[in-house]
Amino acid sequence: MNKIPVIIDVDTGIDDAMALVMACAADNLDILGVTTVSGNVGLEHTTRNTLNILDLLGRGDIPVAAGAAAPIARKAFKASFVHGANGLRGYDFKENVTYALKKEPAWDFMRDILMDRKEKVTIIALGPVTNLALLFEKYPEVKPHIERIVFMGASYHTGNPGPVQTFNVLVDPEGFREVIHSGVPFYAVPLDTTKKSYITDEEAEPIGQMGGPAAELVKGILLGYGGKNAQEENLELGEDEEHHNPKRAARNAGKNSLHDPATVAFVTNPELFTVAGPYYCDVECKGELTDGWTLIDMEDWYCKDEEEKNFFFVDSVDRKGFVQLFYDAIRHFA
Ligand code: RIB
Ligand code: CA
Repeated sequence: MNKIPVIIDVDTGIDDAMALVMACAADNLDILGVTTVSGNVGLEHTTRNTLNILDLLGRGDIPVAAGAAAPIARKAFKASFVHGANGLRGYDFKENVTYALKKEPAWDFMRDILMDRKEKVTIIALGPVTNLALLFEKYPEVKPHIERIVFMGASYHTGNPGPVQTFNVLVDPEGFREVIHSGVPFYAVPLDTTKKSYITDEEAEPIGQMGGPAAELVKGILLGYGGKNAQEENLELGEDEEHHNPKRAARNAGKNSLHDPATVAFVTNPELFTVAGPYYCDVECKGELTDGWTLIDMEDWYCKDEEEKNFFFVDSVDRKGFVQLFYDAIRHFA
C-alpha cells in the first residue's frame, strides 16, 4: 500500500492526544514527524504531552520538534479551562521522556523533511498555524513540496471560543492569514463539521474495557472533556480559569466533540466525509467583536478568479462510521 507521508503539527491537548492515537493506528499514514506549538496550553506542556503519548503508543521512533511558544503578532490565548492545567486534565505519565525530541525548531525540521523527499508531504495542522507561518516566512521554497494542509478549525455557522471564532484561528489570526494566502492547497475540517464528529458519553463507555495503553489514555482524558465536571472534580483549570463557563459546559455535556481526531480521519478515511469548495477565505484580524472570524465566501460575493479561491471546506461527516474508526484505532493498541 502507498502510504500518505504526513507531518502532524499539534498543541496537545485532549483531542490532539486522541488524534495521535488515530494517526498512529492508521496503516495508510507514514508519519515523518510531529511538531508542537503553543495553543491549548503552553509549548512546554504540548511538547511534553506529545513525547509522552508517542512513547506510550510505542511510537517513540517518530521524531518530535518543538516550535513557536507564542503567536506571530500577539500574546498567547490558551484553553486550559477546557483541557486542564497540563493539557490532559491532569492525566499523568509514569515518567517524562525526551529521547525523540530534536534539537532544531519545528520550522527547520519541517524544511529538512520537505526538501529531502521526492514525493509531496501532507501537513495535518491541529493547532494554531504559527509554525507554518514561520516556515513559509523563513523557507518559502518548501511550498511546492507540500501536497496540502489539512487544518482543524475555521467555521461558517458556529464558534468556540466565541460565537463566530474558532480557537486555532483566534489564537493566531495573523499567522492564519499568511498560511491561507500562501498558495498551498488548504483544506479546513471546520468546527461546523467537527462539532458533529462527537462521541456520546454512552458510546465512550466501552472504551474503558478495550484494554491497552490507548484505551487507558482515552478513558483518562475523555471523561469530562470540556471542563463539564470541573467543579465536581476540583480540576485545576490553570491560568485561563476565568473563561470557564459552567452553564455552557453543562449544555454541551454528554457529547464529546472529537475535533482533531476527525481531522486525522479526513486524511485516512476520506470516504466518511464530503468536501465543498474551493471558496475564497480571509480572516478578521482586528474586529472589535469578530476578531479571528473566518470570512468564507460561499456565495461568491467577490466573484474571485478560480486561482484566488484558497479554501476547501469539509462539510459533512458520517458520524457512526467515524466513531467506529475511533474504536478501531483504540483497539489497535490492545
Ligand atoms: O476548537 C478545537 C481545536 O482547538 C482543537 O484543535 C483543540 O485541540 C484546539 O487546538
Ligand atoms: Ca488541537
